[in-house]
Amino acid sequence: MEKGTEKRGQWASNFGFIMAAAGSAIGLGNLWKFPYLAGTHGGGAFVVVYLLIVLFVGFTIMLGEMAIGRRTGLNAIGAYKMLSKKFTWVGMAGVLSGFLILGFYNVVGGWVIKYIVQFVMGGVQGDSAAFFGAFISSTAEPVIYALLFAVATALIVWKGISGGIEKASKIMMPALFVLLIVVMIRSVTLPGAGAGLEYYLKPDFSKLTPAAIVAALGQVFFSLSLGMGCMITYGSYLSKDENLEKDALIVPFMDTAAALLAGFAILPAVFAFGFEPGAGPGLMFITLPQVFASMPAGTIFGILFFVLVLFAAITSSISLLEVCCAYVIDEFKWSRTKATWILSGIIFVLTALSSLSMGPMSGFLIFGKNFFDLLDYITANILLPLGGLMMLIFIGYFWGVDKAAEEIEQGGKFQFKLKGFWNIMVKFVGPIAVGVVFLNMLGIIKF
Ligand code: TRP
Repeated sequence: MEKGTEKRGQWASNFGFIMAAAGSAIGLGNLWKFPYLAGTHGGGAFVVVYLLIVLFVGFTIMLGEMAIGRRTGLNAIGAYKMLSKKFTWVGMAGVLSGFLILGFYNVVGGWVIKYIVQFVMGGVQGDSAAFFGAFISSTAEPVIYALLFAVATALIVWKGISGGIEKASKIMMPALFVLLIVVMIRSVTLPGAGAGLEYYLKPDFSKLTPAAIVAALGQVFFSLSLGMGCMITYGSYLSKDENLEKDALIVPFMDTAAALLAGFAILPAVFAFGFEPGAGPGLMFITLPQVFASMPAGTIFGILFFVLVLFAAITSSISLLEVCCAYVIDEFKWSRTKATWILSGIIFVLTALSSLSMGPMSGFLIFGKNFFDLLDYITANILLPLGGLMMLIFIGYFWGVDKAAEEIEQGGKFQFKLKGFWNIMVKFVGPIAVGVVFLNMLGIIKF
């Protein structure tokens, strides 16, 4: 199978595709970032804005990417190149984002493995903030855990589309939802959980600052895996018998459900034990271990929780790696084996650097940020929104909404019910919303 002559992969079933696409979307973004963003930006108010952006912008871009992917049957760069040479750079920025995101994603994935090991050995005793700080700033240990995570990712991608990515997602995604619901039930039934529920569900619109809106938009892109051609790549392995409109509704729905459930699993428990909801990125690795330590059978819930986080993280990291691999496989006819292992090797250099930037290299700052934060910032706040904006402009004003609709309708096989809505979103609402938030973020306009 590993010669340069391999056939291009395809999903074996639509259920498999949905699990893989939802697997890509549901990741550390939902379980680690969403609860702490909601925690720091006013709970329910942030959630409301987030939902609106998913509905209007998220669905629109998701459907656009899937249509471009299935139409061309190519990787992100090849797809743009085929439809319009002028937009090839958008695909390139996308593949570059894949490398950069994996550079820090692997590091956090490694932390998750470390925490599973830690909970199997009885959990985090004593000061969990000191424990976390000491672990991530040490030299070898976090790099080794990140390597484990990167190798697990590469092994799945190496096995191909239906035999690797689809198979892994079909097992891990349902398991993830079951575990998430178990942990959520535990959390909302703790004595004192009510305060957390109230905080999470009762919107405080006074906390809805421009910064909160920028964060919500960036989070929608990151969480739905949009703006870098991930859904172009996954869509390219899809048969013409699938209803893209339906898929582009189901995947954001599942992703949002997972994010909301993660909030229900985490915030009530945090309140029940008297911790701070706005703890920031440390919420999952510092606050939660304390919560588990003070909970009956906390070690078991800790293991379950971090295993589910690992499943979520791996089904996302494989999609990031696949975007990069699909490019060299399609365009340079590399074998999947060569693509997977060589690209993983290159990415691991970034990964090691971003892990070390938390410790021995923490004095080395670029634009005032360490390497890890820099990768996160450049991708989530700049490259992904830019990629999404350019995709909307591309469909709306170059390729054409009608051409995209043709791909969605398949000669009348499917009725594109939301075509009118989508047309307006692609041409006007989407670009304006993303453009304004983007310019504000860059400091070019201020609201
Ligand atoms: N969506 C994933 C998460 O929530 C991360 C991710 C996977 C991603 N593939 C992506 C983000 C493509 C942006 C683009 O953790």
